[in-house]
Amino acid sequence: MHSKVFEKIEMKLETALFLFKAIANYDPITALHCCNTSSIAVNLAGKLHLSGRKLNDVMIAAQLHDIGKIKIPKQILNNPGKLTENEFETMKKHPEIGFSIVKDLTEFHDIAEAILYHHEKFNGGGYPTGRSSQEIPLYARILSIADAYEAMISDRIYHKALTEEKALQVISEEKGIQFDPEIVTVFIAMKSVYHV
Ligand SMILES: [Fe+2]
Repeated sequence: MHSKVFEKIEMKLETALFLFKAIANYDPITALHCCNTSSIAVNLAGKLHLSGRKLNDVMIAAQLHDIGKIKIPKQILNNPGKLTENEFETMKKHPEIGFSIVKDLTEFHDIAEAILYHHEKFNGGGYPTGRSSQEIPLYARILSIADAYEAMISDRIYHKALTEEKALQVISEEKGIQFDPEIVTVFIAMKSVYHV
């Protein structure tokens, strides 16, 4: 009985690692962002009292959340300037591409949904579907905060890193707009504890 459970977990982690390597091969910066986002998302999910399989799913979803970018041309992905409207439209396809890569894998259903909805906004102003509040799966609501925070505190070719304080301020200003207000509260509390 137990060995079957372990076999399943092992297979899932092996599949996730295989997919993660595809991101790392295509664009190491995206892979690093996914990795860092994953540790933030797992910490946050723990504070939200997720455990076991759910915590594992959040970890994998975050590690793979930008996997769709492996199909986005490099000149768009690594463009240091402002993207044209067309380029931005192409870039915005990455959640759906990512979803299509993982959706049929065994046990990846919730992970696929988290990937699909990680750019939705709590107020319905995101993409690809414009879903709002609880219509956005919990993993995606957690992921979007971890994703945005990690992006802000990292140096990118198109922007300089913000301080952690400034990034937290932006997250808190987006409470109820871009992000789930309850999860923001937990995130800010988690970060303040770490900073004492
Ligand atoms: Fe993304």
